[in-house]
Amino acid sequence: MKNKNLKIVIAGGGSTYTPGIVQALIKSRQKLDFSEIMLYDIDDTRNSDMQLIVEYQLKQENLQSEVSIKKSTDPEEAFRDSTFVFSQIRVGGLKMREVDEKIPLKHGLVGQETCGLGGFSYGLRTIKEILRIVEYVQRFAPDAWILNYTNPETIVSEAIRRVYPNVRMLNACDMTISIEETIARDYGYNRNNWQPVYYGLNHFGWYKSIYDISVDRDIMPEILEKISNEGLKIADFNKGDKTWQEAWDMLAKISRNFPGALPNNYLEYYLYSEETVEKMDPNYTRANIVLDGREKRTREMARKIRENESGDVLDFNFGEHGQYIVDMAVSIVNNDHGRYMLIVENKGAIPNLRSDAMVEVPAYVGRNGAEPISLRFDISDFHKGLMEVQNAAEKLLVDAYFENSYNKALQAFTLNQTVPNANVAKVVLDEFIEANRGYWPELH
Ligand code: NAD
Ligand code: G6P
Ligand code: MN
Repeated sequence: MKNKNLKIVIAGGGSTYTPGIVQALIKSRQKLDFSEIMLYDIDDTRNSDMQLIVEYQLKQENLQSEVSIKKSTDPEEAFRDSTFVFSQIRVGGLKMREVDEKIPLKHGLVGQETCGLGGFSYGLRTIKEILRIVEYVQRFAPDAWILNYTNPETIVSEAIRRVYPNVRMLNACDMTISIEETIARDYGYNRNNWQPVYYGLNHFGWYKSIYDISVDRDIMPEILEKISNEGLKIADFNKGDKTWQEAWDMLAKISRNFPGALPNNYLEYYLYSEETVEKMDPNYTRANIVLDGREKRTREMARKIRENESGDVLDFNFGEHGQYIVDMAVSIVNNDHGRYMLIVENKGAIPNLRSDAMVEVPAYVGRNGAEPISLRFDISDFHKGLMEVQNAAEKLLVDAYFENSYNKALQAFTLNQTVPNANVAKVVLDEFIEANRGYWPELH
């Protein structure tokens, strides 16, 4: 594989996460020799704004002569000769995220972009487009690696597994890194010393242990005690973001009520669905917060650059999000075998769970892709039961997509653990069918 003058494509180039990715790319330039960043998006206006911002970022680091920044809405131009494709599309944009969140909430159910029925609505919208991107990459750059973090990740990766079982692709989520960063920062640990064991589905899992090589033992029991007593705090760059502080508070609550394993905060939507609904404003959801925050700030950054305004132009900080993606690319190019939580086909990694589930477990990443670890212990009946129901619901949803089956979709909606009965599952499904016309497959 080529390891110099790499071309990196960002699919969904207009995403508000792009500046954070570019920031991480610039920081890692010694380890990743790229000469072109290509923004691929179906929306040329968003792509143009982003091209301006990235140009500005490169200029600030004096890299404008070494790295070219291009944009395209044409897949062949975008993907041809690429080495890496970072995939971060949001099918239907934040406007449809708002719909995903508000329809369930109207019926007293969790309104969230990846969990509950909102995640299912987003999933059925995204499968077709993500498969199309994989197909483009197979056609125009078959040796390229796709690093995918497009949500909802378990559903997306399950669909890809069925059509492209051997694709050169890593599916990863930043949530475990964000949990670990927050713990390390709050309690004064160095995360680089950690070797965590984690298992679950995406946004649905638990840590079994966190081995710290600097003290040669599992420090998870003491971390759990600290979380139980002191809770977790949001990072400074996130100050004012009430949603994330609430998420950490719920993680602490789950840890207290179900001792022995450190949970992913997203479990709050399944274990405490009513409580999370009570905290949500049905008229102003997370999509509105993002539209009025990150999205607006991004447009503002582009405007300032376009109008040559001086002063503080760049305004972004996505914590570790961009860095872990770039680190995975570095690990592939340099055959580093860095350890990451990845979403992979189980195939015995979790011994007592069905083999074809898409699970999130630690994996070593090198030139040949992911080598997931085998856990070599059975997970508890509690975790297994929760995961099996969620996995069955997600599989049924993907079946519904490929079979155009209303029946399978209704089964998926009914089985979702945020849904109390089949009546409300049907009402919400029917509303989503209307709201997603043109996006969802025809279900009959
Ligand atoms: P955004 O709306 O700001 O950006 C997404 C971009 O994708 C838009 O510019 C849009 O025009 C483009 N797009 C939509 N459909 C496309 C298609 N078919 N082909 C090419 N481009 C297309 O959204 P965002 O908030 O930046 O999030 C982007 C994605 O990344 C979402 O799926 C989000 O859930 C995901 N995400 C995942 C993680 C993770 O840890 N897994 C973290 C952050 C964001
Ligand atoms: C975390 C999750 C992502 C999710 C994001 C939402 O990073 O791991 O999967 O997309 O949060 O953040 P937002 O600010 O868009 O609500
Ligand atoms: Mn995620």
